[in-house]
Amino acid sequence: MKKILVITYSQSGQLDEIVSNITKHFPSEIQIHHEKLIPVPSFPFPWKGISFYDAMPECVEMIPAKIEPVSFNPNEEYDLIILGYPIWFLSPPIPLTTFLKSNEAKKVMNGKPVLTIIGARNMWVMAQEDIKKMILENGGILRGNIALCDKHNNLISVITIIYWMTTGKKEKFLEIFPLPGISRYDIDNVNRFSQVIAYAVIKNSFETLHDQLLVLKSVELSPNVVSTEEKGKKIFGAWAKLILKKGGPGSSERVGRLKMFRGYLLFVIFVVSPIVSLFFYITWPLLFIRIRKKMKYYSGVDLKVKK
Ligand SMILES: Cc1cc2nc3c(=O)[nH]c(=O)nc-3n(C[C@H](O)[C@H](O)[C@H](O)COP(=O)(O)O)c2cc1C
Repeated sequence: MKKILVITYSQSGQLDEIVSNITKHFPSEIQIHHEKLIPVPSFPFPWKGISFYDAMPECVEMIPAKIEPVSFNPNEEYDLIILGYPIWFLSPPIPLTTFLKSNEAKKVMNGKPVLTIIGARNMWVMAQEDIKKMILENGGILRGNIALCDKHNNLISVITIIYWMTTGKKEKFLEIFPLPGISRYDIDNVNRFSQVIAYAVIKNSFETLHDQLLVLKSVELSPNVVSTEEKGKKIFGAWAKLILKKGGPGSSERVGRLKMFRGYLLFVIFVVSPIVSLFFYITWPLLFIRIRKKMKYYSGVDLKVKK
């Protein structure tokens, strides 16, 4: 018998559906313990008012909060640990950060292969860098990554995801916009990954897992989106520090700065980013080699250690 520990956090259930579409095709000799992280108190869904932006500072600065105690035994030896997560503000969602910074994560992950499964809008590479660091700190070895995104145009997907997140309705906004989130086709077709993952677990051979997943298109990056994300992550860091000076989550003193951040974010997304994207495409041929190298790095599972 082989054992896999699956740890997920998902608000709408989109990420959980992706993960379960992969794991339900594993052969019966693989036993699965699925641990769904439960934050205390829970985050609102649908999100109301400023609460959405109030999650940003702790996400970006990776400040742990509270989660319900986990139900698995952290001293158990698992053959693979799967971490499934959505992205919040170019960062790991708070419940996953909380788990990864816990003693249970350190115990269960030490020396173990890890596979990450991401369900995002379209900006996940910077969060995955944070996750790579936390896995390494826990002694885990990242062996594969699958990242699913909404493939619509960046601005369209911003509008549809805001509608979904603030109403809780995964339906067409004004009947003219496409459905929010990852397409039904992409969610249903993740079963193409099941066999290679199960094979790696059964053979206890993970060296080529990520390359095999890449052949199956587990990661598809847009250089323009990655470039926007890199800049955004730095700017979010500055905003997070500024807001945290006014207090912790839910503090009324920080509402003013959160509202400023909200205005800034919407201005940057809808006004600045299209101009920056245009500039990116004009300069793209000059930076071709550098961009290609960068895409290869972000598609991979290694962590670049800053010297
Ligand atoms: C607070 C918040 C911030 C988000 N920020 C990002 C982001 O920076 N990049 C991204 O690709 N998606 C972002 N999303 C979308 C999520 O990654 C995800 O697609 C969506 O929340 C559905 O996931 P679920 O499985 O938890 O329902 C954000 C969602 C929320 C709620």
